[in-house]
Amino acid sequence: MKILITGANGQLGRELQKQYKGKAVELIPTDVKDLDITDVKAVYKFVKENNPDVIINCAAHTQVDKCEEQVDLAYKINAIGPKNLASAAFAIGAEIVQVSTDYVFDGEGNTELTEFDITNPQTVYGKTKLDGENFVKTLNPKYYIVRTAWLYGDGNNFVKTMIKLSENHKELKVVNDQVGTPTSSADLAKVIIKLIEEKNYGLFHCTCKGVCSWYDFAKEIFRLENINIKVIPCTTEEFPRPAKRPKYSVLKNYMLELTTGDITNQWQESLKEYIEELHI
Ligand SMILES: NC(=O)c1ccc[n+]([C@@H]2O[C@H](COP(=O)([O-])OP(=O)(O)OC[C@H]3O[C@@H](n4cnc5c(N)ncnc54)[C@H](OP(=O)(O)O)[C@@H]3O)[C@@H](O)[C@H]2O)c1
Repeated sequence: MKILITGANGQLGRELQKQYKGKAVELIPTDVKDLDITDVKAVYKFVKENNPDVIINCAAHTQVDKCEEQVDLAYKINAIGPKNLASAAFAIGAEIVQVSTDYVFDGEGNTELTEFDITNPQTVYGKTKLDGENFVKTLNPKYYIVRTAWLYGDGNNFVKTMIKLSENHKELKVVNDQVGTPTSSADLAKVIIKLIEEKNYGLFHCTCKGVCSWYDFAKEIFRLENINIKVIPCTTEEFPRPAKRPKYSVLKNYMLELTTGDITNQWQESLKEYIEELHI
């Protein structure tokens, strides 16, 4: 099996390459300098020349605050990019994996969100990611759309930011009124690989198990790292940001539970493994 990965230098792209090592799969990892997913002609040319069985799109404009100003760029990368990849994949009979986000919901409720719940994005990032999902669904029936949240892996993320900040702060204020589920790119990659192996097409939520606030997440990072720092809970209003943050953004992996099985870990377990690996 031949798999084209776009955005291969990002957190998820790197993790997929790691997990596919040793498997009977030929990988074609690309990032923007090799294949710019926003360029329709380049995408068709590359896909036709390389003829993959599956395209896994890990490329995205993931800086949610910047997306509020860079609206055109956000549409190009998060909506037009998946459109180009889905239609090029369709032209050669290949499958497409599109990774999406909890930001497709408004986060105003207080119950876990399933794949059957109604979307209502509140930000440019969320809107463009939802448009990306819709293009993929419309243009290629052999799709896997996998929504995740609070992702960390080999790249810049909340875990690394907290550790870095602790180097020159005695105390840190962290938001305590937004809840979700920290998710390791290792868990997400494991699920994507299984979905492809089982040809289990469709829309899936994939986060680790459990729920916490950013404050709880930060406390756990410092506990596992043995960092002695005062963490002060604060409200969203104390940290105004250009993009509105969802308050309750807990995804239920309902479709996984009903089909392939939910093989993700409790968030604290995966975080522990990730932090141990940072020290190897
Ligand atoms: N990070 C999160 O907390 C989070 C949460 C929910 C969902 N997600 C979704 O999960 C997926 C993976 O996220 P991630 O954290 O692994 O992302 P990431 O680390 O930001 O990686 C994205 C990659 O895409 C590349 N890229 C940007 N524009 C491109 C283009 N036009 N053509 C080709 N490649 C391009 C980036 O390259 P440059 O760095 O050179 O720009 C980067 O290597 C994304 O779909 C994201 O929306 C992420």
